[in-house]
Amino acid sequence: MGKLKDQVALVFGATSGIGKATVDLFVQEGAIVYFCGRRLERGAAIEKEWQEKGGSAFFIPCDGTVDEQVKELVATVIAKEGKIDVLVNNVGVSLPGPLLEMDLEKNFDVTMDVNVKSYLRVLKEVIPVMVQQKCGVIVNTSSVGGITPMPSHLAYTMSKAAIIRLTKSLALEYAGDGIRVNAIVPGLTDTEINEGNEDFIKEIVKTIPLGRIASSEEIARGILFLACDDSSFITGTELIVDGGESL
Ligand SMILES: NC(=O)c1ccc[n+]([C@@H]2O[C@H](COP(=O)([O-])OP(=O)(O)OC[C@H]3O[C@@H](n4cnc5c(N)ncnc54)[C@H](OP(=O)(O)O)[C@@H]3O)[C@@H](O)[C@H]2O)c1
Repeated sequence: MGKLKDQVALVFGATSGIGKATVDLFVQEGAIVYFCGRRLERGAAIEKEWQEKGGSAFFIPCDGTVDEQVKELVATVIAKEGKIDVLVNNVGVSLPGPLLEMDLEKNFDVTMDVNVKSYLRVLKEVIPVMVQQKCGVIVNTSSVGGITPMPSHLAYTMSKAAIIRLTKSLALEYAGDGIRVNAIVPGLTDTEINEGNEDFIKEIVKTIPLGRIASSEEIARGILFLACDDSSFITGTELIVDGGESL
């Protein structure tokens, strides 16, 4: 308890799954947590749940693909708290499709807009704040698909590989400003992003040495490690939490 005491965290994409588990864990660890997503009822329900328990979790509706909404999101957190200590970039979609079945607009462009460009949008707003603070921690959500090829989800695997390079580039660029930037690399995890992919999951599980997929809470614990001082000398790396899937 208390690993993020009084820290202000923004979890970008947290109305379900790994993001929600991260909000829950961060609040339990003493953080003041702002989080976003497009599903208003989901976000409001999480906020209400924490208000009733006395925790600090605040939902701000935001579509990560809309510049103005992302600017407004970050401006709201700064207006309320005056700082952002931790940013977790977590929004994501996973649209299946190998190259020859991939519609470039409906699949590739949408994937890149959500999984890569929205990270850039929020980073462009938050990094100047952290530079001014002379400190900050950023955790970007990649995927095992970003470190091993996933031909059945070509746009997704490309987008998640981009997040690894983005992470390392920013880690190098901003280390001198006191900002650490790392990536979490989840393996297959039990969340809504995988709904409807039951056959795909059954096949992947056969290849996971630990014999099962992850829970959102197990991934959130990795994110917490990268977000708090337990990882104070770690930057530019990727933490793989995959039960051995990528081996
Ligand atoms: N589950 C896995 O097997 C797995 C494995 C490796 C990596 N990941 C990565 O983990 C991250 C979280 O995914 P998850 O597994 O927890 O799935 P999830 O439950 O579907 O969560 C995705 C989150 O992203 C948000 N989101 C999607 N598009 C958005 C947009 N345009 N604007 C704002 N928020 C948006 C969703 O909120 P709204 O729908 O409310 O907008 C939701 O909160 C993703 O980056 C995913 O690629 C997942």
